[in-house]
Amino acid sequence: MARVSASILACDHTRIGEQVLEAERAGADIIHIDIMDGVYVENVSFGPQLVSDLKKITKLPLSVHFELVRPEIFLPMFARTGADIVTFQLDACPNPIHMLREVRKAGLKAGVGIGPAYDVENIKYLLHHIDGLILMSVEPGYGGQPFENSIYDKLRRAREIMKEAGRRVPISIDGGVTAVTGRGLVEAGADVLIAGSSVFQAESITKAVEMLKAL
Ligand code: DX5
Ligand code: ZN
Repeated sequence: MARVSASILACDHTRIGEQVLEAERAGADIIHIDIMDGVYVENVSFGPQLVSDLKKITKLPLSVHFELVRPEIFLPMFARTGADIVTFQLDACPNPIHMLREVRKAGLKAGVGIGPAYDVENIKYLLHHIDGLILMSVEPGYGGQPFENSIYDKLRRAREIMKEAGRRVPISIDGGVTAVTGRGLVEAGADVLIAGSSVFQAESITKAVEMLKAL
């Protein structure tokens, strides 16, 4: 069984609070909030106020996923929001170890995200600086994109690297996660399934969360 992180990008943005609470009642473990700058990706999403406002209504940990360039500029804005973990994309940051230290110094857990076209071997050099790893199975930017099957091998390799290094941090998979793809991901060792469209575009958010939790 993996934890389920509900990615609010796929919510009805006029009803985010309501839909987050439904996911929470259904058993979601984490709320995932993508922050996009229109530069790293061709989309713009949420700002710090949404994170602070969600903190007031949900007890779930808030996982902020930076899909933006210059993450160091955005960190102070989000450090005050009540976010629990900040993850930035490895290829968006030339000095990731420095950035990871800054995130921890700000009192947050620190994570790195790896896009589907990037090598997972790099995590070898980061394991002692991270509290979480997001492996992306779609290109950052949008929900509802096709799922990259290469993620299964990557996930197994990430597990191996952690074993060799004697340091295990939770691995989350982000993008195209459904009840179908999720089963293989859990088998391959995913700790967290991040799901947007398959939860918030479903006929029933409650049933969709329950289905992922049951994998
Ligand atoms: C994509 C985001 C994801 C997104 C996933 O850039 O990082 O969190 O919400 O969406 P689905 O689950 O629809 O692929
Ligand atoms: Zn994300």
